[in-house]
Amino acid sequence: MTATVTAPADQHWPWWPLLPLYPYGRRPTLVRELVPGRIWSFEQLHGVWYVAVPIRMTVVQVEEGLMLYSPIPPTGEVLQALHQLERQHGPVRSIVLATSSGLEHKLPVPAMARAFPSATVWVSDCQWSFPLRLPGAWLGFPAERTRVLGRDGYPGGDQLRWFPLGPLDLGLGTFLELACLDLATGCLLVIDALVSIPAVPPAVFDLDPTPLLFHARERGSELLIDTSANRLRGWKRIVLFANFFRPASVSIPALPEIFSEAMAARHRSNRNHFGFYPFRWSADWEQQAGELLAAGNGMNGIGIAPVLERLVFPRSKRAYLEWLRHLGSQDGLSKLISAHYAAPVEVCALTFKQLIAGIEHRCWALSEGSWQVLASIDNSLIRLGIVPHPSSEDHPPSS
Ligand SMILES: [Fe+2]
Repeated sequence: MTATVTAPADQHWPWWPLLPLYPYGRRPTLVRELVPGRIWSFEQLHGVWYVAVPIRMTVVQVEEGLMLYSPIPPTGEVLQALHQLERQHGPVRSIVLATSSGLEHKLPVPAMARAFPSATVWVSDCQWSFPLRLPGAWLGFPAERTRVLGRDGYPGGDQLRWFPLGPLDLGLGTFLELACLDLATGCLLVIDALVSIPAVPPAVFDLDPTPLLFHARERGSELLIDTSANRLRGWKRIVLFANFFRPASVSIPALPEIFSEAMAARHRSNRNHFGFYPFRWSADWEQQAGELLAAGNGMNGIGIAPVLERLVFPRSKRAYLEWLRHLGSQDGLSKLISAHYAAPVEVCALTFKQLIAGIEHRCWALSEGSWQVLASIDNSLIRLGIVPHPSSEDHPPSS
Protein backbone atom coordinates (compact mmCIF):
# COMPACT_ATOMS: atom_id res chain seq x y z
CA MET A 1 0.00 0.00 0.00
CA THR A 2 1.52 3.32 -1.03
CA ALA A 3 -0.05 6.70 -0.41
CA THR A 4 1.37 9.90 -1.86
CA VAL A 5 -1.23 12.54 -1.12
CA THR A 6 0.11 16.03 -0.40
CA ALA A 7 -1.46 18.28 2.22
CA PRO A 8 -3.72 21.04 0.86
CA ALA A 9 -1.99 24.27 -0.12
CA ASP A 10 -3.77 26.21 2.63
CA GLN A 11 -1.80 24.25 5.19
CA HIS A 12 1.47 25.74 3.88
CA TRP A 13 3.18 28.27 6.08
CA PRO A 14 3.73 31.39 3.95
CA TRP A 15 6.61 32.75 6.04
CA TRP A 16 8.77 29.67 5.96
CA PRO A 17 11.88 31.39 4.47
CA LEU A 18 12.24 33.17 7.82
CA LEU A 19 12.52 29.84 9.64
CA PRO A 20 13.40 27.23 7.08
CA LEU A 21 12.01 24.14 8.80
CA TYR A 22 11.46 21.74 5.93
CA PRO A 23 8.83 20.57 4.86
CA TYR A 24 7.13 23.90 5.67
CA GLY A 25 3.78 22.47 6.73
CA ARG A 26 3.51 19.98 3.88
CA ARG A 27 4.10 16.43 4.99
CA PRO A 28 3.62 13.96 2.17
CA THR A 29 3.80 10.48 3.63
CA LEU A 30 5.07 7.27 2.11
CA VAL A 31 3.19 4.25 3.46
CA ARG A 32 4.67 0.82 2.85
CA GLU A 33 3.74 -2.64 4.00
CA LEU A 34 7.00 -4.13 5.32
CA VAL A 35 5.69 -7.50 6.50
CA PRO A 36 2.40 -8.55 4.89
CA GLY A 37 -0.53 -8.18 7.28
CA ARG A 38 1.78 -7.41 10.22
CA ILE A 39 4.08 -4.37 9.95
CA TRP A 40 3.79 -1.06 8.07
CA SER A 41 6.12 1.92 7.69
CA PHE A 42 4.84 5.52 7.56
CA GLU A 43 7.63 7.84 6.40
CA GLN A 44 7.86 11.59 6.17
CA LEU A 45 10.77 14.02 5.74
CA HIS A 46 11.81 16.55 8.35
CA GLY A 47 14.72 18.89 8.82
CA VAL A 48 16.08 22.41 8.65
CA TRP A 49 17.18 24.33 5.56
CA TYR A 50 16.42 21.36 3.30
CA VAL A 51 18.66 19.09 5.38
CA ALA A 52 15.81 16.61 5.34
CA VAL A 53 16.04 13.05 6.57
CA PRO A 54 13.32 10.40 6.74
CA ILE A 55 11.41 10.01 9.98
CA ARG A 56 9.36 6.86 10.42
CA MET A 57 6.43 5.53 12.41
CA THR A 58 6.13 1.75 12.48
CA VAL A 59 2.73 0.15 12.85
CA VAL A 60 2.59 -3.41 14.22
CA GLN A 61 -0.47 -5.60 14.33
CA VAL A 62 -0.52 -7.46 17.63
CA GLU A 63 -3.40 -9.48 19.11
CA GLU A 64 -4.92 -6.56 20.98
CA GLY A 65 -4.92 -4.34 17.86
CA LEU A 66 -2.54 -1.92 16.17
CA MET A 67 0.48 -0.46 17.93
CA LEU A 68 1.97 2.82 16.66
CA TYR A 69 5.67 2.83 17.52
CA SER A 70 7.27 6.28 17.32
CA PRO A 71 4.35 8.35 15.99
CA ILE A 72 4.73 10.94 13.25
CA PRO A 73 2.52 14.02 12.76
CA PRO A 74 -1.00 12.69 12.06
CA THR A 75 -1.83 14.52 8.85
CA GLY A 76 -5.11 13.78 7.10
CA GLU A 77 -3.24 11.44 4.82
CA VAL A 78 -1.70 9.53 7.74
CA LEU A 79 -5.06 9.21 9.51
CA GLN A 80 -6.74 8.05 6.34
CA ALA A 81 -4.17 5.28 5.93
CA LEU A 82 -4.40 4.31 9.61
CA HIS A 83 -8.19 4.11 9.49
CA GLN A 84 -7.87 1.88 6.45
CA LEU A 85 -5.56 -0.42 8.44
CA GLU A 86 -8.00 -0.36 11.35
CA ARG A 87 -10.79 -1.59 9.10
CA GLN A 88 -8.64 -4.55 8.07
CA HIS A 89 -6.64 -5.33 11.22
CA GLY A 90 -8.45 -3.89 14.23
CA PRO A 91 -8.29 -0.63 16.15
CA VAL A 92 -5.26 1.38 17.21
CA ARG A 93 -4.76 0.25 20.80
CA SER A 94 -1.42 1.76 21.73
CA ILE A 95 0.73 4.76 20.84
CA VAL A 96 4.33 4.25 21.90
CA LEU A 97 6.95 6.92 22.54
CA ALA A 98 9.97 4.72 23.24
CA THR A 99 12.48 7.54 23.74
CA SER A 100 12.92 10.09 26.50
CA SER A 101 14.90 12.61 24.49
CA GLY A 102 14.02 12.61 20.78
CA LEU A 103 12.00 15.82 20.42
CA GLU A 104 10.96 15.02 16.86
CA HIS A 105 9.34 11.84 18.19
CA LYS A 106 7.73 13.46 21.26
CA LEU A 107 6.03 16.34 19.47
CA PRO A 108 3.56 14.26 17.43
CA VAL A 109 2.35 12.24 20.45
CA PRO A 110 -0.35 14.62 21.76
CA ALA A 111 -1.97 15.04 18.33
CA MET A 112 -1.85 11.31 17.66
CA ALA A 113 -3.35 10.66 21.11
CA ARG A 114 -6.21 13.05 20.31
CA ALA A 115 -6.79 11.28 16.99
CA PHE A 116 -7.20 7.92 18.78
CA PRO A 117 -8.94 8.77 22.06
CA SER A 118 -9.37 5.15 23.16
CA ALA A 119 -5.70 4.18 22.63
CA THR A 120 -3.31 3.84 25.55
CA VAL A 121 -0.28 6.12 25.34
CA TRP A 122 2.95 4.43 26.40
CA VAL A 123 6.00 6.59 27.05
CA SER A 124 9.51 5.75 28.15
CA ASP A 125 10.48 6.67 31.67
CA CYS A 126 12.60 9.81 32.34
CA GLN A 127 10.69 12.14 29.99
CA TRP A 128 12.13 15.63 30.20
CA SER A 129 11.82 19.06 28.71
CA PHE A 130 14.16 22.06 28.51
CA PRO A 131 14.58 24.71 29.84
CA LEU A 132 11.68 23.95 32.21
CA ARG A 133 11.00 20.50 33.59
CA LEU A 134 7.32 20.09 32.80
CA PRO A 135 5.04 17.27 33.93
CA GLY A 136 3.82 14.79 31.32
CA ALA A 137 0.35 16.34 31.11
CA TRP A 138 1.93 19.72 30.25
CA LEU A 139 3.82 18.01 27.43
CA GLY A 140 0.46 16.92 26.04
CA PHE A 141 0.40 13.32 27.23
CA PRO A 142 -3.17 12.51 28.37
CA ALA A 143 -2.74 11.73 32.08
CA GLU A 144 -5.67 9.33 32.40
CA ARG A 145 -4.43 6.95 29.69
CA THR A 146 -0.65 7.39 29.70
CA ARG A 147 1.48 4.53 30.99
CA VAL A 148 5.24 4.28 31.51
CA LEU A 149 7.04 1.51 29.62
CA GLY A 150 8.48 -0.97 32.08
CA ARG A 151 7.06 0.54 35.24
CA ASP A 152 3.44 -0.04 34.15
CA GLY A 153 4.12 -3.03 31.89
CA TYR A 154 4.37 -3.07 28.09
CA PRO A 155 1.97 -3.13 25.17
CA GLY A 156 1.73 -6.23 23.01
CA GLY A 157 1.92 -8.75 25.85
CA ASP A 158 4.11 -11.77 25.15
CA GLN A 159 4.25 -11.03 21.42
CA LEU A 160 6.81 -8.28 21.88
CA ARG A 161 10.07 -8.05 23.83
CA TRP A 162 11.55 -4.74 24.99
CA PHE A 163 15.19 -3.70 25.40
CA PRO A 164 16.05 -0.46 27.21
CA LEU A 165 19.23 1.46 26.36
CA GLY A 166 19.88 3.70 29.35
CA PRO A 167 18.93 5.66 31.29
CA LEU A 168 22.06 7.75 30.67
CA ASP A 169 22.62 11.09 32.33
CA LEU A 170 22.95 13.83 29.67
CA GLY A 171 23.06 16.67 32.15
CA LEU A 172 20.22 18.56 30.44
CA GLY A 173 18.10 15.43 30.73
CA THR A 174 18.22 11.67 30.44
CA PHE A 175 18.66 9.44 27.41
CA LEU A 176 16.50 6.34 27.41
CA GLU A 177 15.39 4.41 24.37
CA LEU A 178 13.58 1.09 24.17
CA ALA A 179 14.00 -1.25 21.23
CA CYS A 180 11.10 -3.58 20.55
CA LEU A 181 11.40 -7.08 19.06
CA ASP A 182 8.36 -8.54 17.34
CA LEU A 183 8.85 -12.22 18.15
CA ALA A 184 6.59 -13.50 15.36
CA THR A 185 8.60 -11.83 12.59
CA GLY A 186 12.02 -11.15 14.15
CA CYS A 187 11.66 -7.48 13.28
CA LEU A 188 13.55 -5.20 15.65
CA LEU A 189 12.14 -1.69 16.07
CA VAL A 190 14.47 1.06 17.28
CA ILE A 191 14.32 4.85 17.37
CA ASP A 192 17.63 6.72 17.03
CA ALA A 193 20.33 4.49 18.50
CA LEU A 194 20.78 2.20 15.52
CA VAL A 195 20.35 3.24 11.90
CA SER A 196 21.26 2.21 8.40
CA ILE A 197 22.18 5.27 6.34
CA PRO A 198 21.61 4.26 2.73
CA ALA A 199 24.09 5.10 0.00
CA VAL A 200 21.30 6.32 -2.26
CA PRO A 201 18.34 8.64 -1.54
CA PRO A 202 15.46 6.88 0.28
CA ALA A 203 12.25 6.40 -1.72
CA VAL A 204 10.39 9.01 0.35
CA PHE A 205 12.32 11.67 -1.60
CA ASP A 206 10.44 10.61 -4.71
CA LEU A 207 7.47 12.49 -3.22
CA ASP A 208 9.54 15.69 -3.22
CA PRO A 209 13.19 15.62 -4.36
CA THR A 210 13.64 19.38 -3.78
CA PRO A 211 15.97 19.00 -0.76
CA LEU A 212 18.28 16.78 -2.81
CA LEU A 213 18.35 19.14 -5.76
CA PHE A 214 18.81 22.19 -3.53
CA HIS A 215 21.99 20.79 -2.00
CA ALA A 216 23.32 19.31 -5.25
CA ARG A 217 24.33 22.79 -6.42
CA GLU A 218 27.54 24.73 -5.95
CA ARG A 219 26.00 28.21 -6.07
CA GLY A 220 22.65 29.75 -5.20
CA SER A 221 22.39 31.14 -8.72
CA GLU A 222 22.18 27.64 -10.20
CA LEU A 223 18.86 26.08 -11.15
CA LEU A 224 17.44 23.04 -9.38
CA ILE A 225 17.77 20.33 -12.00
CA ASP A 226 16.22 16.95 -11.39
CA THR A 227 18.59 14.21 -12.51
CA SER A 228 19.52 10.98 -10.74
CA ALA A 229 23.10 12.25 -10.44
CA ASN A 230 21.94 15.43 -8.73
CA ARG A 231 19.65 13.49 -6.38
CA LEU A 232 22.57 11.30 -5.33
CA ARG A 233 24.89 14.26 -4.96
CA GLY A 234 22.33 16.10 -2.82
CA TRP A 235 21.71 13.04 -0.66
CA LYS A 236 25.40 12.61 0.17
CA ARG A 237 25.64 16.26 1.22
CA ILE A 238 22.47 16.05 3.30
CA VAL A 239 23.91 13.00 5.08
CA LEU A 240 27.05 14.99 5.90
CA PHE A 241 25.04 17.93 7.23
CA ALA A 242 22.62 15.78 9.23
CA ASN A 243 25.40 13.88 10.94
CA PHE A 244 28.07 16.52 11.49
CA PHE A 245 26.06 19.78 11.41
CA ARG A 246 29.00 21.48 9.71
CA PRO A 247 31.14 18.97 7.80
CA ALA A 248 34.84 19.74 7.36
CA SER A 249 34.28 20.01 3.61
CA VAL A 250 31.88 22.96 3.98
CA SER A 251 32.73 26.63 4.40
CA ILE A 252 30.48 29.68 4.62
CA PRO A 253 31.14 32.43 2.07
CA ALA A 254 30.96 36.13 2.94
CA LEU A 255 27.51 37.71 3.02
CA PRO A 256 28.08 40.02 -0.01
CA GLU A 257 29.02 36.97 -2.06
CA ILE A 258 25.87 35.12 -0.97
CA PHE A 259 23.65 38.09 -1.83
CA SER A 260 25.38 38.67 -5.13
CA GLU A 261 24.73 35.08 -6.19
CA ALA A 262 21.13 35.26 -5.07
CA MET A 263 20.64 38.37 -7.20
CA ALA A 264 22.23 36.60 -10.16
CA ALA A 265 19.76 33.70 -10.00
CA ARG A 266 17.54 33.57 -13.07
CA HIS A 267 14.65 32.19 -11.02
CA ARG A 268 14.01 33.13 -7.41
CA SER A 269 11.21 31.48 -5.47
CA ASN A 270 10.35 29.79 -2.20
CA ARG A 271 11.58 26.57 -3.67
CA ASN A 272 15.20 27.70 -4.13
CA HIS A 273 15.17 29.99 -1.06
CA PHE A 274 15.26 32.95 -3.43
CA GLY A 275 18.75 32.03 -4.60
CA PHE A 276 20.37 31.91 -1.16
CA TYR A 277 22.81 29.05 -0.76
CA PRO A 278 25.39 29.95 1.91
CA PHE A 279 27.67 26.95 1.51
CA ARG A 280 30.89 26.15 -0.34
CA TRP A 281 31.96 22.56 -0.76
CA SER A 282 35.64 21.68 -0.99
CA ALA A 283 36.92 19.19 -3.54
CA ASP A 284 37.08 16.32 -1.04
CA TRP A 285 33.44 16.46 0.08
CA GLU A 286 32.46 13.29 -1.77
CA GLN A 287 35.32 11.38 -0.22
CA GLN A 288 34.15 12.48 3.23
CA ALA A 289 30.61 11.39 2.43
CA GLY A 290 31.92 8.00 1.33
CA GLU A 291 33.89 7.64 4.56
CA LEU A 292 30.80 8.48 6.61
CA LEU A 293 28.64 5.97 4.77
CA ALA A 294 31.25 3.23 5.29
CA ALA A 295 32.78 4.21 8.64
CA GLY A 296 32.54 1.91 11.61
CA ASN A 297 29.40 0.22 10.42
CA GLY A 298 28.59 -3.45 10.23
CA MET A 299 26.71 -5.36 7.53
CA ASN A 300 24.14 -3.43 5.48
CA GLY A 301 25.51 -0.13 6.70
CA ILE A 302 24.03 -0.55 10.17
CA GLY A 303 25.62 1.55 12.88
CA ILE A 304 25.36 4.52 15.18
CA ALA A 305 24.97 7.97 13.67
CA PRO A 306 27.99 10.23 14.42
CA VAL A 307 25.81 12.92 15.98
CA LEU A 308 24.54 10.41 18.53
CA GLU A 309 27.94 8.85 19.10
CA ARG A 310 29.58 12.21 19.80
CA LEU A 311 26.82 14.03 21.71
CA VAL A 312 24.92 11.27 23.51
CA PHE A 313 27.34 8.36 23.87
CA PRO A 314 30.83 9.92 23.97
CA ARG A 315 31.38 8.47 27.43
CA SER A 316 28.92 5.57 27.25
CA LYS A 317 30.45 3.23 24.71
CA ARG A 318 30.28 0.37 27.17
CA ALA A 319 26.54 0.75 27.78
CA TYR A 320 25.94 0.97 24.06
CA LEU A 321 27.92 -2.20 23.37
CA GLU A 322 26.06 -4.07 26.12
CA TRP A 323 22.78 -3.09 24.53
CA LEU A 324 24.00 -4.32 21.12
CA ARG A 325 25.12 -7.62 22.65
CA HIS A 326 21.73 -8.07 24.25
CA LEU A 327 19.95 -7.38 20.98
CA GLY A 328 22.29 -9.61 18.99
CA SER A 329 21.72 -12.56 21.32
CA GLN A 330 18.01 -12.75 20.50
CA ASP A 331 16.83 -15.72 18.43
CA GLY A 332 15.17 -15.20 15.10
CA LEU A 333 16.36 -11.68 14.29
CA SER A 334 15.40 -10.84 10.74
CA LYS A 335 15.02 -7.11 10.08
CA LEU A 336 15.94 -3.80 11.63
CA ILE A 337 13.33 -1.04 11.39
CA SER A 338 14.61 2.23 12.81
CA ALA A 339 12.81 5.57 13.03
CA HIS A 340 15.21 7.18 10.54
CA TYR A 341 16.89 6.36 7.22
CA ALA A 342 16.56 2.91 5.60
CA ALA A 343 14.14 0.18 6.65
CA PRO A 344 13.67 -2.71 6.70
CA VAL A 345 17.31 -3.84 6.73
CA GLU A 346 18.26 -7.50 6.98
CA VAL A 347 19.94 -8.42 10.29
CA CYS A 348 21.02 -11.56 12.11
CA ALA A 349 23.29 -12.44 15.02
CA LEU A 350 26.34 -12.06 12.76
CA THR A 351 25.31 -8.49 11.90
CA PHE A 352 25.56 -7.54 15.55
CA LYS A 353 28.81 -9.45 16.08
CA GLN A 354 30.44 -7.57 13.23
CA LEU A 355 29.05 -4.25 14.38
CA ILE A 356 30.28 -4.81 17.94
CA ALA A 357 33.72 -5.90 16.74
CA GLY A 358 33.95 -2.84 14.50
CA ILE A 359 33.08 -0.47 17.34
CA GLU A 360 35.46 -2.19 19.75
CA HIS A 361 38.36 -1.76 17.37
CA ARG A 362 37.84 1.73 16.09
CA CYS A 363 38.29 5.11 17.74
CA TRP A 364 35.09 6.25 19.42
CA ALA A 365 33.65 9.75 19.45
CA LEU A 366 36.38 11.47 17.44
CA SER A 367 37.21 15.14 17.68
CA GLU A 368 39.03 15.72 14.38
CA GLY A 369 37.92 16.58 10.86
CA SER A 370 34.18 16.64 10.42
CA TRP A 371 33.72 15.69 14.08
CA GLN A 372 35.12 19.04 15.27
CA VAL A 373 31.80 20.86 15.57
CA LEU A 374 30.20 17.98 17.48
CA ALA A 375 33.26 17.79 19.73
CA SER A 376 33.20 21.52 20.39
CA ILE A 377 29.52 21.32 21.41
CA ASP A 378 30.28 18.45 23.77
CA ASN A 379 33.34 20.19 25.21
CA SER A 380 31.39 23.41 25.75
CA LEU A 381 28.68 21.53 27.62
CA ILE A 382 31.34 19.91 29.81
CA ARG A 383 33.01 23.28 30.51
CA LEU A 384 29.66 24.80 31.47
CA GLY A 385 29.00 21.88 33.80
CA ILE A 386 25.84 21.00 31.86
CA VAL A 387 26.91 17.44 31.04
CA PRO A 388 28.78 15.14 33.44
CA HIS A 389 32.56 15.34 33.33
CA PRO A 390 34.25 12.50 31.42
CA SER A 391 34.71 9.41 33.55
CA SER A 392 37.77 7.20 33.31
CA GLU A 393 35.43 4.23 33.75
CA ASP A 394 34.36 4.29 30.13
CA HIS A 395 36.10 5.18 26.91
CA PRO A 396 36.90 8.89 26.89
CA PRO A 397 36.57 10.81 23.65
CA SER A 398 39.80 10.81 21.70
CA SER A 399 41.41 14.17 21.19
FE1 LIG B 1 15.08 10.75 16.02
